[in-house]
Amino acid sequence: MGIKDPEPGKFSGKALLKGKKCVVTGGALGIGAQICYTFAENEAEVVILDYNREAAENTKSFITAAIENSKVHFVQADVSDRAELKKSFDEVASIFEGSIDVFVNNVGIIQPCRIEDIISDEESKTFDRIIDVNIKGTYYCAAYAYPLLVKGVDPALILIGSCASVGSEGQGGYAGSKAAQRGLLGTLAKEWKATDDYQAVRVGLIEPDYLEKTAITVEKQYWLDLANARRTTVDKISDDTVARTKVPLKREARLTEISEVVMFYALSTYLNGEALSVSGGKTMRL
Ligand SMILES: NC(=O)c1ccc[n+]([C@@H]2O[C@H](COP(=O)([O-])OP(=O)(O)OC[C@H]3O[C@@H](n4cnc5c(N)ncnc54)[C@H](O)[C@@H]3O)[C@@H](O)[C@H]2O)c1
Repeated sequence: MGIKDPEPGKFSGKALLKGKKCVVTGGALGIGAQICYTFAENEAEVVILDYNREAAENTKSFITAAIENSKVHFVQADVSDRAELKKSFDEVASIFEGSIDVFVNNVGIIQPCRIEDIISDEESKTFDRIIDVNIKGTYYCAAYAYPLLVKGVDPALILIGSCASVGSEGQGGYAGSKAAQRGLLGTLAKEWKATDDYQAVRVGLIEPDYLEKTAITVEKQYWLDLANARRTTVDKISDDTVARTKVPLKREARLTEISEVVMFYALSTYLNGEALSVSGGKTMRL
């Protein structure tokens, strides 16, 4: 387990985040691990906040071995557990001496969940877990991060959402949880404004779509099977053709194509309250 094939970014060696104190939830695997790698490559000090100790320790060792002088810490917490999260933020405050510059709320679980099934005993558990992790976890993290962010340098909170926020067949629970991030984004952009006493904390939402390689592969197979079950045998689709038919760029995103947009948003000091889809043009609104 742990980070798999992290990619060198286009901006590696540029030290764009030199000295920045950054926290990435769900930084042990997938997109989160790539964000940690990209941040460390750009000389940020990074805290991986995750519940998977083994994967997080592997990712931490991998990054520190691959990037000279990188500083990576691990703090363990399940983001859906408010009490546990409080302790983990105390730990973050102690590592970073009371402030955070960039907080990336990346944790999210993707599980199939059809609306008409969520009233069954079994599926209601899936639905509850999606709500607990994706909505409550995200909101709790924002609440705990604010007092530390407001003391940071050009502080920003970046949410990792999904293009599924506008609706996704068979993924009602997940889509709704990602739409809730849009509500949180707009609310925080208004509430975390500059006052006479406090600086503003900027917020952003990055919404990826198809990705080349993450731990979601199993779920992806589920969607392909579902789509294929409705088709004739001549017309079966493959993992590859899903992206090719729907995305103008005719390919899925590489992980750095997400992590570097996160870094770009963190660095763009006048971007605030915006949702950016990183979908290769699939979700363009023109
Ligand atoms: N993979 C995709 O195709 C895709 C597409 C669009 C958006 N996204 C979004 O990107 C984000 C990351 O997705 P990913 O594919 O990298 O996921 P992933 O499953 O590969 O990794 C998720 C990470 O979060 C951690 N985690 C999960 N639940 C947790 C909890 N309750 N508390 C603490 N840590 C927890 C895991 O240990 C893991 O390190 C999610 O918000 C997801 O919705 C993913």
